[in-house]
Amino acid sequence: MTSTLLAGRAALVTGSSRGIGRATALALADHGADVVVHCRQARELAEETAAAVRARGRRAWVMSADLEDPEQIAALFAGVREQVGGLDIYVANAAATAFKPTLAMQPHHFERTFNLIVRSLMLAVQEAVPLMKGRPGRIITVSGHGTRFTLAHYAALGSAKGAVETWTRYLAYELGALGITANCISPGVIDTDSARYYLKDTFDRLDQAVARDTPLGRMGVPDDVAGAAVWLASDLAQFVTGQVIQVDGGLSLASGPFEEIR
Ligand SMILES: NC(=O)c1ccc[n+]([C@@H]2O[C@H](COP(=O)([O-])OP(=O)(O)OC[C@H]3O[C@@H](n4cnc5c(N)ncnc54)[C@H](OP(=O)(O)O)[C@@H]3O)[C@@H](O)[C@H]2O)c1
Repeated sequence: MTSTLLAGRAALVTGSSRGIGRATALALADHGADVVVHCRQARELAEETAAAVRARGRRAWVMSADLEDPEQIAALFAGVREQVGGLDIYVANAAATAFKPTLAMQPHHFERTFNLIVRSLMLAVQEAVPLMKGRPGRIITVSGHGTRFTLAHYAALGSAKGAVETWTRYLAYELGALGITANCISPGVIDTDSARYYLKDTFDRLDQAVARDTPLGRMGVPDDVAGAAVWLASDLAQFVTGQVIQVDGGLSLASGPFEEIR
């Protein structure tokens, strides 16, 4: 599906070399946005995303930056300022962590996860907001199921994403006067290469359990998340701010053991 909902807008999607970020970049382009495709190191994959954006008739730029590093964040936005000129939509999607139980966690695991996911949000917003001046600014963050539900080895990522949800509400509160909205998308379980990589041989069992416990009867795909991002980025959602939108097919409504007798 295509439209001109986002025609003339420029978006930066972090972590759009693959997975949900890539699908979001392409969906924004499908609806008329030009896109800065960001990656940390997977330049070739990012170039593929950019080529797919251009094939949709939109402009695309590829920029790499390690979002753990404040200097690289500043350089990324300097690139946006110089090459794109301004920004309408910032999607904070990139994430990574060490999946470990709390008792095995080292300070550097904590620091890297929180620097990438929480500190980078603060620093990126400080850079993005001046570029949104006079534009219908949209900040879209991505959290996850692990902020409300406990998952094995997910304490650091779930806690960092919880901070992202809270900070998104503060962004909505602080930036509303500038005409900027801030909302968070919380995906359920989404079938990405990363999810398959980390879950390894448990992926198929999880896929079946998620399908059983999800009212809409299946695991999510990246396009499910991308659709919500397009809506939040568009004027259709102009009066929506400070919200955490669950994009999980209803998985978060599941009632644990009672799903056995559904
Ligand atoms: N998949 C799920 O089931 C699921 C569920 C809930 C929430 N989410 C959230 O949705 C988002 C996307 O998930 P995904 O599965 O699509 O992710 P993914 O496939 O693992 O992709 C992660 C992206 O983040 C980038 N990245 C990683 N470390 C970085 C760093 N230090 N600096 C800059 N960029 C970095 C990667 O760049 P390179 O390619 O260059 O390494 C890649 O583009 C994440 O925020 C994730 O927590 C996912």
